[in-house]
Amino acid sequence: MTDLLDQLRTAVGDGHILTDEADMAAYVVDWTGVHAGRARAVVRPGSTDEVAAVLAACHAAGVPVVPQGGNTGLVGGGVPDSSGSSVVLSLGRMRTIRDVDPVAGTITVDAGVVLADVQVAAEEADRLFPMSLGSEGSCTIGGNLATNAGGTAVLRYGMTRELVLGLEVVLPDGRVWDGMRALRKDNTGYSLKDLFVGSEGTLGVITGAVLRLFPATPRHATAWVAVPSVEAAVSLLGTAQQHAGAHLATFEIANRQALDLVLAHLPGASDPLAEPSDWYVLVELAGAASDDGLDDALEAILTSAVDDGLATDAAVAGSPAQRSSLWALREGISEAQKVEGATLKHDVTLPIASLASWASSMGPILEEVLPGVRPVTYGHVGDGNLHYNLSAPVGGDDDLRAAAHDLSTAIYDSVAAGHGSISAEHGLGRTKAAAGASYKSAVEVDLMRAVKAALDPRGLMNPGVLLPRLG
Ligand code: FAD
Ligand code: MLT
Ligand code: ZN
Repeated sequence: MTDLLDQLRTAVGDGHILTDEADMAAYVVDWTGVHAGRARAVVRPGSTDEVAAVLAACHAAGVPVVPQGGNTGLVGGGVPDSSGSSVVLSLGRMRTIRDVDPVAGTITVDAGVVLADVQVAAEEADRLFPMSLGSEGSCTIGGNLATNAGGTAVLRYGMTRELVLGLEVVLPDGRVWDGMRALRKDNTGYSLKDLFVGSEGTLGVITGAVLRLFPATPRHATAWVAVPSVEAAVSLLGTAQQHAGAHLATFEIANRQALDLVLAHLPGASDPLAEPSDWYVLVELAGAASDDGLDDALEAILTSAVDDGLATDAAVAGSPAQRSSLWALREGISEAQKVEGATLKHDVTLPIASLASWASSMGPILEEVLPGVRPVTYGHVGDGNLHYNLSAPVGGDDDLRAAAHDLSTAIYDSVAAGHGSISAEHGLGRTKAAAGASYKSAVEVDLMRAVKAALDPRGLMNPGVLLPRLG
């Protein structure tokens, strides 16, 4: 095995391979702190050729590889298992923005570029790269593609899959697939890029991407709206679509429990409304510099909502600073819940028409399993996607951990019965690989295993992630 380490050292340069446990510590534990593994080494290649050399060497040695971007994933897919047999391949040094073409509407980047840096590069070219996640200051384009990330702009622009035109991927044996096409139209056989998007590092390492840019939307009209129920929020979505049309950019929900955690744990956060409400919606319209009707459209939405009993109060942002503070109430929930203590995350989608009844049915079921459990419910209601994240009963972190399987099973069974998905946007990772397979048909699992076997016949790319190990 020293041979392999020597080859990896030659591939990436002496300063870019870590083998000391203390040096590797930040790479073997995930953002949630729940997944902590061990690695044989961490390598930090600086180019596609270096990634290819690393994969070729690991392939020859039969050593598993765990690709890692910003390590903000929420399902344990970017960190190694506890065996200590894997090499972690971090894309952190591959941060070059290769090209920006505002007229073609494309930006071409290395996979290790941080999402926020892509947003800034687009803005500097008077364009918009719309993907927006609470983790955008750390997560990478490679990780976004590998998880087919969602976020707060999906309602208008779609998931990551819809934002990518071309990919460059290093295959498990070290060969490079150059699929960096910048074409809107390309019907020349199987869409290979769509296999790699959402593959969670199990089929190869994404090293570059051609992404789509959109017209800039410098104008915003934003409100934090108190709504009586999920049902009212869903009806309000219809009202907002009717008044704002294509300008509706964001429609996010949070329950009072979520807001309380943000107010308790995030410095500077304050409740913009005088009276508490059970539920809130963050609604935002966005448009071009010439779109001067956004404030009026928002006003019309809010007036109609109050008249129809869909909203009880609203705070409208009067300045960019106020807009940021309303967004912080939404974007700060994951962090605040982590500070509160043990969290059991569920990232579910249901048909939007059944979202409200599903959410109200879950509380009593979970209370039976673990009395005092606290559903911190929020997310992308405009996409039918709720983060039904459970906090422990006060002082009961160990009780939550002990009941985790039963709680998650109750939620997933109910989602499956409602024809929903147990992972809307975070992927399956290690946390949900087994559950993911158990809620799919045997035919679907067979097809997924066939794809995996065709691209990674030796099973060395991120084993145990996305699909459970056999046997
Ligand atoms: P990592 O965590 O490093 O890896 C994630 C997966 O991708 C792993 O399986 C890894 O092996 C694989 N991978 C990483 N890079 C590559 C590559 N170059 N080639 C092949 N495989 C690779 N997610 C959402 O979808 N929507 C949200 O709204 C959202 N909000 C979040 C808010 C917070 C505060 C946090 C902490 C996370 C949030 N996430 C959200 C989850 C996470 O940020 C996304 O999944 C993101 O896309 C992961 O990117 P990353 O670079 O950190 O990937
Ligand atoms: C978010 O939308 O804030 C995250 O995807 C939810 C989470 O951290 O569970
Ligand atoms: Zn989310």
